Amino acid sequence: MVKNFYITTPIYYPSAKPHMGHAYSSIIADFFARFKRMDGFDVSFLTGTDEHGLKIQRAAKKKGIDTLQFCDEISQTFKDLSKILNLTNTDFIRTTEDRHKLSVQNLWKELEKNEDIYLSKYSGWYSVSDEAFYTEDEIEEVDGKKQAVSSKSPVEWMDEESYFFKLSKWEKPLLEYYEKNPNFISPISRKNEVISFVKSGLKDLSVSRKSLSWGIQVPNNKNHIIYVWLDALTNYISALNYPNTNNSLYKKFWPASIHLIGKDILRFHAVYWPAFLLAANIPLPKKIYGHGWILSGEEKMSKSKGNILDPIEIIEKYGLDPLRYYLIKEVSFGNDGNISQERLEDCINSDLANNYGNLCQRVIAFGIKNCEGKIPNNIEFQKDDLKILDKFKSNLELIRKKIDNQDINFYIDFIVNSLFEANKYFNDQEPWKKKGDIKRLNTIVYTTLEIVRKISFMLYPIIPQSALNALKIFDIKEDDIKFSTLDNHNYLKFNSDINKINILFKKIEKEND
Ligand code: ME8
Ligand code: MG
Repeated sequence: MVKNFYITTPIYYPSAKPHMGHAYSSIIADFFARFKRMDGFDVSFLTGTDEHGLKIQRAAKKKGIDTLQFCDEISQTFKDLSKILNLTNTDFIRTTEDRHKLSVQNLWKELEKNEDIYLSKYSGWYSVSDEAFYTEDEIEEVDGKKQAVSSKSPVEWMDEESYFFKLSKWEKPLLEYYEKNPNFISPISRKNEVISFVKSGLKDLSVSRKSLSWGIQVPNNKNHIIYVWLDALTNYISALNYPNTNNSLYKKFWPASIHLIGKDILRFHAVYWPAFLLAANIPLPKKIYGHGWILSGEEKMSKSKGNILDPIEIIEKYGLDPLRYYLIKEVSFGNDGNISQERLEDCINSDLANNYGNLCQRVIAFGIKNCEGKIPNNIEFQKDDLKILDKFKSNLELIRKKIDNQDINFYIDFIVNSLFEANKYFNDQEPWKKKGDIKRLNTIVYTTLEIVRKISFMLYPIIPQSALNALKIFDIKEDDIKFSTLDNHNYLKFNSDINKINILFKKIEKEND
């Protein structure tokens, strides 16, 4: 079985510094990357910045600085954020890099060679904020100003010579492709949305602009700049050294396992990108997953609305892992979700500090006092012990399957339930009353430690640093974290030390407690 996994985030616009929405997509992608890695996959994980187009050109001009310098500065803040979020991305691509320009121009030439591109004239609405074209029925007028219905971004009239991509030609092949590959677009609501959009008829797409200088030139026509979305989407193969399809990265990782995106950019990924690839005879990615939005109040959090939460401020206040845990748990994956500091604090106190942190401290303290600080040998599992241990073993395949269906909600529920059961097990077994039956006492301690080990492995993709801190109890290192070992009940080495660890999560004092 081929165990390669390639996951991508959108490449973000460096028009302003990153916000919680960007952090959200990146954290989710990192969750999948880490899970797959601990399940024995070779993982490629790409993120980056989308630096061309009018939106960026205007943002730089407004600041009065050189466009590339502007991009350098803000792109760096996205790169820094990757470190702050503890992402395990294997690459960070910028569309201003030569490797990418080469790749885009090559894709263009392929499209041209296959006669999917022609020169004509575009007259219609364009939103610079979305870098998207809209038809008359996709716009509305509010306070005398035209805007896109879907995003509420202002639109402007555009009237100029432009190259077109023959998108209309791919309407039927796309519908056939969706039909034959029912998991190509997820979740199902997004798939239905895309299918009905395509069924309503695809018009050819304007893919170049004359009145713009900040971008990649159309090969053989200096007067035209390639449409920023054709440019941006290509990043997913630029990073694998396309057009050199004979190199090991491309051979290993294309087609991508999953493009993780927000639902705002579904059409570009599920319609335009597959059409470009079909036209260029390049295999399509295996899946496009469009997650929901993080809302602030009732609205989508976005730069242009000015209602953003700053991930760095939250991390400074609460720490990274609580934020990662909270975003993964509280936003029902696939749907929109509201976030609040109040609920973040509840999450830290109940799940992380009480259910996980306390369990670790209790069993360590008990083991140090009653088992000479060593992982006890002389054990014999009974029904109650096996019941709680077997739950992991018997669900291993199911968990893998759920992950392949991006069912993060299942994964986190499994952990939360396991934590609850582990605490209940330790209380119900009352090891402190078993001092006359040392074998029983040892078995309870061993079982609880083994459960802590298993849960920490499962928590690793969500809260990597905290899970590693907990695993110091057993001297387990990052490279030792293998998902497949969750079916082993005798993983912990007899007589090795039970190490003390620092408090994993500090409880938040709440004002009205
Ligand atoms: O669209 N909730 O970049 P962008 C959840 N450059 N996720 C959010 C979010 C929110 N409120 N706001 C943003 C672009 N995101 C293009 C992409 S890809 C070839 C080019 C996340 O800076 C989400 O993943 O506007 C969304 O799709 C993406 O950031 C848009 O980032
Ligand atoms: Mg956006």
